[in-house]
Amino acid sequence: MEMPQSPAAASAEWWRQAVVYQIYPRSFADSDGDGLGDLKGILSRVPYLASLDIDAVWLSPFYPSGLADGGYDVDEYRDVDPQLGTLADFDEMTASLHGWGIKVIVDIVPNHTSNRHAWFREALAAPKGSQARDRYIFRDGQGPDSAQPPSDWASVFGGPAWTRVPDGQWYLHLFAAEQPDLNWANREVRDDFLTTLRFWSDRGVDGFRVDVAHGLAKNLAEPLEPLGVNGDLADSPLSHGNHPLWDRDEVHDIYAEWRRVFNEYDPPRAGVAEAWVHPSRRPRYASPDGLGQAFNFDLLEANWKADEFLRVITDNLADVQRYGASTTWVLSNHDVVRHATRYALPAEDYLSSTRNAKAWLLSNGTSPELDRGLGLRRARAATLLMLALPGSVYLYQGEELGLHEVADIPAEQIADPAFLRSGGAEKGRDGCRVPLPWTADGPSFGFGTGPAHLPQPAWFGPLSVQAQEHDPASTLALYRQALSWRRKLQAAESLEGIPGTNGQVLHFGRPGGWRSVTNFGPRPVPVPRGTVVVASNPLQDGLLPADTTAWIITAGHRFPGTGRGRLPPGPGFLYCRTGRGSRPSDRPARLPCSPRCRERAAGRLGPAPRVPDRRFGVRLTGAGAGGIGVPEVAIWRTTWWPAATSWRSAVIPAASCIRCRSRTCPCSASATTRPEAPARAVRPERCR
Ligand code: GLC
Repeated sequence: MEMPQSPAAASAEWWRQAVVYQIYPRSFADSDGDGLGDLKGILSRVPYLASLDIDAVWLSPFYPSGLADGGYDVDEYRDVDPQLGTLADFDEMTASLHGWGIKVIVDIVPNHTSNRHAWFREALAAPKGSQARDRYIFRDGQGPDSAQPPSDWASVFGGPAWTRVPDGQWYLHLFAAEQPDLNWANREVRDDFLTTLRFWSDRGVDGFRVDVAHGLAKNLAEPLEPLGVNGDLADSPLSHGNHPLWDRDEVHDIYAEWRRVFNEYDPPRAGVAEAWVHPSRRPRYASPDGLGQAFNFDLLEANWKADEFLRVITDNLADVQRYGASTTWVLSNHDVVRHATRYALPAEDYLSSTRNAKAWLLSNGTSPELDRGLGLRRARAATLLMLALPGSVYLYQGEELGLHEVADIPAEQIADPAFLRSGGAEKGRDGCRVPLPWTADGPSFGFGTGPAHLPQPAWFGPLSVQAQEHDPASTLALYRQALSWRRKLQAAESLEGIPGTNGQVLHFGRPGGWRSVTNFGPRPVPVPRGTVVVASNPLQDGLLPADTTAWIITAGHRFPGTGRGRLPPGPGFLYCRTGRGSRPSDRPARLPCSPRCRERAAGRLGPAPRVPDRRFGVRLTGAGAGGIGVPEVAIWRTTWWPAATSWRSAVIPAASCIRCRSRTCPCSASATTRPEAPARAVRPERCR
């Protein structure tokens, strides 16, 4: 069955409001019964992915790897791990996903290779000072016989960031010892990654998730700067470009080169940076001259509190308005405790939701006791809230089943280097990487024909896809319903009006009359007027119960793409790529730009993109399209003009009343063709 490509998927900016589903390939589906998920397993589940109505999948690494860090230790960047399949399998999987209208994003790990990579083996065999060593970061140690590491730098996974090699030198690894850091000042390293980007782009990959994007550029000038307690960027006063290891300005030169490669393709390949940096530093990673998008983990860090969520939303949307990037929303991924579990714990004011959950993990999930039902209820509400926000959303496999974290993996089965290198002071991330349950029973709940590579708990059975498939109250059904409504309701990349909270209820609106309301508090509250189209839990006597989100279509909602509201592409549609110099409301009856707009002067008005440009567009219809009079003009608002936040997508008949928009309204205003912004609909009776 072929799924039609949505207009958004066909656009060069398809990623701006995309729903991306993260697959951790080794734990998704195992086609050959070896306990490890593989590419043929993913292929077999493509119809399932399509049933979720997502726009893209992001695959965590599937490259050959010694698995010292779940595949983030790459042996060879342009191949598939033989345990996971072949390049031919990759091509088949990609073709199938594309056939269903799903884009493919792959993970690129540029900060470090694995210690089994041909370059590192060459470096170990080569002498001090050789070209082979210069691809990595080798240094002599301190003290007599170079016996002390070259600096006090610590690995993110615990222990020193330096390991000694037999000839006495040390190499740097900001993560596990099996993940030697590359030297990005070396031209050969840079060129090789450009080759890798082209290799996957030529195979049809649509985008790249860039691992540890803020780590590549380092200040390695001697003497190496001591960090003492300032190793962790999050806690460090050395942020804002001054830290020797993280988030240095030079890193953006690398991504400018990558962007040039992305733009060699049509549509340009997309990029999303994993950059754990101060929010003020995020926009550069997300700039159109760089990777284009950067993860924003703020929602994932927030506790289940209306004011925390509100702050995250308003801050991030203000940032994107300022910088023109599209934001990203994440509640779960392969590195953090699942959000159903985080919200099942009492919030601690002094800890973010993820840190709080890490502390709980250390007790093997025994203390404090989880309130699983409450956690899932809140997780469903949080997801529905997130899916209503402008920007793109990254979902993590298994969250659509409402899976909780598996906290009691026996120590001998834990694979995460964070556990091993910290001497057990960190439990690690295996608990969210336990293979998915597809069926209610079987040796690995349908993941494969044999046992899975991490132990699955008995409670996975009732949460399996099979168990939820036909249950309309299941979390799977909620995700499907919400994702399908999101596609139908999707509007300009903005909020309408100002989001607000009274401490208990958080509400916001999207253009076109789509509202999301979340009750964070303990008491049921009234639902705003309109039609509830999705709710994360059933309403109670018409009230929104505790820990629940509902989406409401307010009266007058117009579905996008149906000729009113946001317009489908069509002949006679003109748009300006920049829109500089004019407010859309000033010139509804003409081309959208002022004479100051350079694009217009250069005659670069072109046919419409498949989705409206993020700034604004105008469609001339009927006689107007032929240049005689302008009977109808459609405008959608921009994310660039804060002053225009109340502007609605609208179709405004030129000979109609500017207030009630009726063609037959007798009031004097109907003579004008110029609607004043904000063009608020008024009931015709009032107008008369
Ligand atoms: C990123 C990945 C994480 C990995 C680390 C080192 O943070 O998300 O899983 O361990 O990079 O590559």
